[in-house]
Amino acid sequence: MNKKNIILIGFMGVGKGTIAREMVAQSDYFAIDTDDIIESLENTKIKKIFAKLGEPYFRDLEKKCALWCEKNIQGTIISTGGGFYRQENIHKIGTVVYLKASFESIIQRLKNAPNSKSKFKKRPLLQDLEEAKKIYNQRVKEYEDVADIVIDVDDFDEQKAVQNILKAI
Ligand code: S3P
Repeated sequence: MNKKNIILIGFMGVGKGTIAREMVAQSDYFAIDTDDIIESLENTKIKKIFAKLGEPYFRDLEKKCALWCEKNIQGTIISTGGGFYRQENIHKIGTVVYLKASFESIIQRLKNAPNSKSKFKKRPLLQDLEEAKKIYNQRVKEYEDVADIVIDVDDFDEQKAVQNILKAI
């Protein structure tokens, strides 16, 4: 059994974790999340890592996590933080799937979520929506360029997104 990993990339709040969980429900894959790995490594929430140690420190942890995934993870769905797509070894880890949605629909969906406040609060780069939009605009082409597969999730139909991913890989 030598299935490749599936790496889910995309902007904050696009639903990488949710889609990873739905994929687990619809297939025999298991899933891990790079932010969860980093939080457990540091025993600290991402928000606190940014506040206390700064973004560059967090990016170093992402790199460490990417190298660890390359060496140790097989046949697994890996959901990632929104900036993880920049890891140089990403294609050595597995097949890169970009979950694509417009900035406006991502923000609307987060605002409509029952736990909306915490979804914004836990994300240091979503505190100022004007700044977040700039980050989105900077990244949107880069996500497409890095991706092996692009899946449109603007309608946020997770089951459909998973079927499309499973068809495409
Ligand atoms: C980040 C996205 C976050 C988290 C960190 C930085 C980014 O993950 O990794 O706050 O640079 O886009 P989510 O994409 O799960 O929000």
